[in-house]
Amino acid sequence: MSGDMPLIFGAPMRDLWGLDPDVDFLNHGSFGATPLDVLAFQREVQDEMERQPVHFMMETLPGRLRAAADDLGSFIGAKGEDVVFVPNATTGVNAVLRSLKFKPGNRVITTNHVYGAVHNTLRYVCKRAGAELVWVEVPFPIGGPEEVLERLEDALKEGAALAVLDHITSSTGLVLPIEAMVRMCHERGVPVLVDGAHAPGQVDLNVESLGAEWYTGNCHKWMLAPKGCAFLWAAKEAQVVHPTTISHGYEQGFTEEFDWVGTQDFSPYLSVTECLYFLRYIDPQRVRNRNRGLAQMAAQVLSSAWSTPIPSPMQMRASMVTMDLPVRVAPTVEAAKRLHDALWERHRIEVVVTPFGDRSWLRISAQMYNDLDQYDRLASAVLQEVIAVG
Ligand SMILES: Cc1ncc(COP(=O)(O)O)c(C=O)c1O
Repeated sequence: MSGDMPLIFGAPMRDLWGLDPDVDFLNHGSFGATPLDVLAFQREVQDEMERQPVHFMMETLPGRLRAAADDLGSFIGAKGEDVVFVPNATTGVNAVLRSLKFKPGNRVITTNHVYGAVHNTLRYVCKRAGAELVWVEVPFPIGGPEEVLERLEDALKEGAALAVLDHITSSTGLVLPIEAMVRMCHERGVPVLVDGAHAPGQVDLNVESLGAEWYTGNCHKWMLAPKGCAFLWAAKEAQVVHPTTISHGYEQGFTEEFDWVGTQDFSPYLSVTECLYFLRYIDPQRVRNRNRGLAQMAAQVLSSAWSTPIPSPMQMRASMVTMDLPVRVAPTVEAAKRLHDALWERHRIEVVVTPFGDRSWLRISAQMYNDLDQYDRLASAVLQEVIAVG
């Protein structure tokens, strides 16, 4: 990282990313966006690997991987020995769910805000075991975290073998009251897998003190790592899970099993140290505050321009906010895509339009490289387009 890096958020920082300057990129949430310095570091790792692939894989990699896990652990409030790398949160969720043995009639709890791929994994494991997938209906728009807790408490009355809970929901961008949710599950003896795909880097995270059995999170979203970098943390007594691919490390312990699942490009994992260096150089707390602040201002801009209330309370929002549209767009993939594509093709704005419940919604993200004027342009572009696609 060069010492003359501009530390003024917004347009002055955009040069640190390779993003197209003609695009208003308001969707950091879906796949992240990685700074050029981090990508250059990743390239160096790949070059090092290709200079002597055997020595790299056999001698260099094991220690470097564990050092990266230690560094990542220090950022997410965990010990490196309890952290393993996986390519993405979907894989982390799969490793846990497919390792657990459910029995016929077991109840497995999640919410209606669960990410689609995770929902499918849940359907798969429940169907395989004859278990029941219990769907907790969390309203959206939502007034406050108590609305989540009340419904979860209700669902827990009949007990459960597992709860799979989001830290930050995907379509609706809600920061759920995850500490209280984990506590509530544990009071009823229900173990918890947290899907924290969006949390690391977006909110302050202390995985160990959260106290769930398993936590998976992406580094390639809000931690700015190269794509294909995520982690699975497991409490000591819950390190009974296996990677979805069984390999040389089978039955040799949690980290041994996950650290090698076959030949692959490990450069995203080893680049975690560089993206942490990037974040720490600016100050992760400052980054979180700024992104969250910008997202709230942007939500206000859109809410005023469209005369629509923000559908979530401030305490449940971080750097992504899901907004109601000025006219009702049908809750179908096709209708959502029509609006998305119009914003992209005619205005060069990248933003999420997503069906949920009885309509489609628009989710904004705010990252260091964004400015308020980009959301002003979004507000006008949507007003122009919704009439056509509604
Ligand atoms: C809540 C949630 N879980 C899981 C995922 C999947 O992430 P990945 O594609 O990195 O596996 C996402 C992606 O946006 C998500 O929002």
